[in-house]
Amino acid sequence: MPIATTTEINRAHRRFAIAPMMELTDRHYRYLARLLTRHTLLYTEMLTCQAVIHGDRDYLLGKHDSEGPVVLQLGGSDTTDMARAAVIGEQMGYQEINMNVGCPSDRVKAGRFGACLMAEPKLVRDVVAAMQDAVSIPVSVKCRLGIDRDDSYQALADFTEQVALSGCRYLIVHARKAWLDGLSPKQNRSIPPLRYEYVHRLKREFPALHISINGGIDSLDAVAEQLHHVDGVMVGRAAYYQPAMLATSDQRVFGDLPDGLQHNASFESLSAVARSYARYMQSMLESVDQGPRLNTMSRHLIALFQEVPGAKQWRRHLSEQASKSRDAIALVEGALDYLVHETRRTA
Ligand SMILES: Cc1cc2nc3c(=O)[nH]c(=O)nc-3n(C[C@H](O)[C@H](O)[C@H](O)COP(=O)(O)O)c2cc1C
Repeated sequence: MPIATTTEINRAHRRFAIAPMMELTDRHYRYLARLLTRHTLLYTEMLTCQAVIHGDRDYLLGKHDSEGPVVLQLGGSDTTDMARAAVIGEQMGYQEINMNVGCPSDRVKAGRFGACLMAEPKLVRDVVAAMQDAVSIPVSVKCRLGIDRDDSYQALADFTEQVALSGCRYLIVHARKAWLDGLSPKQNRSIPPLRYEYVHRLKREFPALHISINGGIDSLDAVAEQLHHVDGVMVGRAAYYQPAMLATSDQRVFGDLPDGLQHNASFESLSAVARSYARYMQSMLESVDQGPRLNTMSRHLIALFQEVPGAKQWRRHLSEQASKSRDAIALVEGALDYLVHETRRTA
């Protein structure tokens, strides 16, 4: 099975990452992503430090050995609790802790964390320093360009300077600001304009920091272009909604030649990935008491095939049948049949 063998994050991994996304980048998605790419850095969904400290750790933080390098993203602003949660994350096998300074939701703002912390750079510095003191793995920060009217390049540079004072070396910048009043989280991912030039300038002015760019990057060509300006690129929605792009990332971003069927975006290769994932889903259904339902895992497969004959039927079959079934192999084979049948019919 083409699974990452290394568990340490090295500089190469940081070239390309799949963004943390609530409700999307759960452990099952990460397993699927790892079937498609050995080297891409993966993130969890954001978890609050309170949930990590008080919640069901296996449920919230459990991860499969074969997920390889994964970054745990935490939300919070209490130095003691964030440090405690970071320690738990390290114990649970994560390779890095990331602090969320980018989420604009009302709930997060009310809890005084996420994007509103762009206005409190010294607090971010102190939280990151406390986490770094508590763990032996790296700590990174994911932030926005700014918030509300405080969106000058200088404000971003001042924020970055404080973060760097904590000793943190890794910054990921979603290259648009967040409007905390009046825009929903979804609107905040599309309405404020992208300003890649701010992030490029940040890299020039803070050359010792490892700076990754995020926001609106939707192809490996665009990733390659950004890598001329910054150290790393993080992709969110495109990675989730066009997962086939991940199948060529090892070769195109990391220069690693594919070693077999998987790791290219051919129909045969993606079918092999779907079958491997079906075996994983079946093993989860059989081995875990009160384990996940089939449709919570199979939903991640829905976008795997696009623009090929039968893709619509593939999606419909998975969406309609998953909630009625406990046989992952039959579910995926049934959906693959549509692709094979339609490909033959239209050949
Ligand atoms: C459904 C969804 C959930 C998200 N959840 C998180 C999150 O938990 N933590 C975070 O830092 N960003 C979160 N984001 C933002 C992404 O990490 C990323 O910054 C944003 O989507 C822009 O990148 P993209 O244009 O490549 O998607 C989320 C985005 C989406 C679409």
